[in-house]
Amino acid sequence: MFDTMTITKAAGALIGALLFLLLAGWAASGVYHVGASGEGSHDGEAAAQAYTIPVEEAAGGDAGAEEEQIDFAALMAQADVAAGEKDFGKCKACHKLDGSDGTGPHLNGIVDRAVASVGGFGYSDAMVAHAGEAPTWTPEALQEFLANPKGVVSGTKMSFAGLKDPQDRADLIAYLAAQP
Ligand code: HEC
Repeated sequence: MFDTMTITKAAGALIGALLFLLLAGWAASGVYHVGASGEGSHDGEAAAQAYTIPVEEAAGGDAGAEEEQIDFAALMAQADVAAGEKDFGKCKACHKLDGSDGTGPHLNGIVDRAVASVGGFGYSDAMVAHAGEAPTWTPEALQEFLANPKGVVSGTKMSFAGLKDPQDRADLIAYLAAQP
């Protein structure tokens, strides 16, 4: 009787304890699981954001590319002709503005002039070919060419590294536009 009662109580206590641990463990794992899935969804949000950011950057990149076009017009709008005259110092060794040609053709009237159109000037085959692709020195065409002459007209005999600063190019083109 003593044994039976003791064993029954002990077994009951043990089963109760096991049941408690089981329930506690289940509840804890439930809580943990909720927490984990909560965190998981935060990770999910973070992951979604991590994906969103490159998309925004890509969109920003596109906007940036468009902006560069718009920017150049803006740079032209705020161009400083006097600064452009100084920048022309880099061209003077080869280009004149009085209608006579030197190492390079005269550049008065260059803005919106036809490419490779100075009669009697010995253009390179590359520049003559370029005239077929891009016939006019629009401000946009000029700024591209002046950024990287040999990159835009591969094989040109114009030995000039290029003007890296877009504002310098805008200033220079504004100055050239004022030289009829
Ligand atoms: C070292 C001499 C040299 C320098 C410096 C130089 N150029 Fe030239 N440029 C040339 C030559 C040579 C050509 C003809 C290129 C050809 O036929 O491939 C030319 C061609 C050009 C043309 C095309 C003209 C046309 O009639 O189609 C433009 C525009 C031009 N240069 C602008 C400039 C500007 C602006 C600068 C200064 C930022 C400059 N160049 C600096 C030698 C030079």
